[in-house]
Amino acid sequence: MPKRAVITGVGHYVPEEKLTNADLEKMVDTTDEWIRTRTGIRERRILRDGATSDLAAGAIKDLLKKKKMSAEEIDLIIVATVTPDMFFPATACVIQEKIGAKNAWGFDLSAACSGFVFALVTGAQFVQTGAYKKVIVVGADKMTSITDYTDRANCILFGDAGAALLLEPSESKEYGIVDYILHCDGSGGQYLNMLGGGSLNPASHETVEKKMHYLYQDGKAVFKVAVVGMADVSYEIMKKNNLTSNDVDWLVPHQANKRIIDATANRMELDSSKVMLNIDRYGNTTAATIPLCLSEYYQNGQLKKGQNLVLSAFGAGYTWGAIYIKWGMENCQD
Ligand code: UT7
Repeated sequence: MPKRAVITGVGHYVPEEKLTNADLEKMVDTTDEWIRTRTGIRERRILRDGATSDLAAGAIKDLLKKKKMSAEEIDLIIVATVTPDMFFPATACVIQEKIGAKNAWGFDLSAACSGFVFALVTGAQFVQTGAYKKVIVVGADKMTSITDYTDRANCILFGDAGAALLLEPSESKEYGIVDYILHCDGSGGQYLNMLGGGSLNPASHETVEKKMHYLYQDGKAVFKVAVVGMADVSYEIMKKNNLTSNDVDWLVPHQANKRIIDATANRMELDSSKVMLNIDRYGNTTAATIPLCLSEYYQNGQLKKGQNLVLSAFGAGYTWGAIYIKWGMENCQD
């Protein structure tokens, strides 16, 4: 009999240093007003020293501390990221060593801004089959390492963060990951990518000169598809599970642009009070946005056992998807 995977722990790590809109006004031709009204972002975090594995390890350590759990208990670490420390070894291996998870294996998963949604569904399969009991799913990205700070349309969007969840099998079928819908459409690859450094365009003087080691985005093209894709998939998962807007307690959206989030909430007919939001303080942290929301809202005591959550994301690939979760942790009293 398959078990249900339930989230039993959360944690996050954000670097101390802030990169505010006022700082960006000094770097590129932009204004605080433009950034706030077009994206909803006021500031983001920037990791000066260290790599994505440090963001992820920080998040997992926070989770383990809150759970009073040893790293040696972890069976599997799945890392969603598009800014791995290096091509190989996998960031999962680097993290395993950094946190001392001696008994865990792990791997990286690349699905850009949908990375966490894809990784959470993947992790859930290992739990539901009964293969593993303690699976860490971590989303971490050091986006500032691939951001071109002369590209004003994109450098204002991204920040650095890591956040992690623990999945365990649930005794009852009442709580946990109930359902999911995932998509990809490779024809969207040309609008959001990083072309340099892979086997198609190995690193060379030319790839550096052409700025191919930075994120490229045709923002307008991506916006048009993201606004429809994220709203549609969120609505679709509600319908598939017979949920009305009254039944949904929280939308946990990928934080790319406040206008995309608003359009998604509108399509679901959800009041803004039911939408998790922290884009104003962190910007787009790619794979970390959704678990960072969950970790913060849990910590603030806003997540209650039995609540219905819809997680949804849209990103490079194109990739997009939604997950329906029945929250299974007791209200945090910290
Ligand atoms: O997370 C993965 C998926 N990614 C996304 O979901 C991001 C999707 N895209 C977006 O969020 C938006 O397209 C952006 C925030 C990137 C851009 O917003 P926009 O409303 O689509 O702006 P735009 O690109 O249409 O540009 C409007 C104007 C242009 O000027 P003109 O041509 O109208 O004179 C831009 O040059 O705004 C100008 N502009 C800026 N002005 C001030 C572009 N960037 C800036 C800037 N400051 N930083």
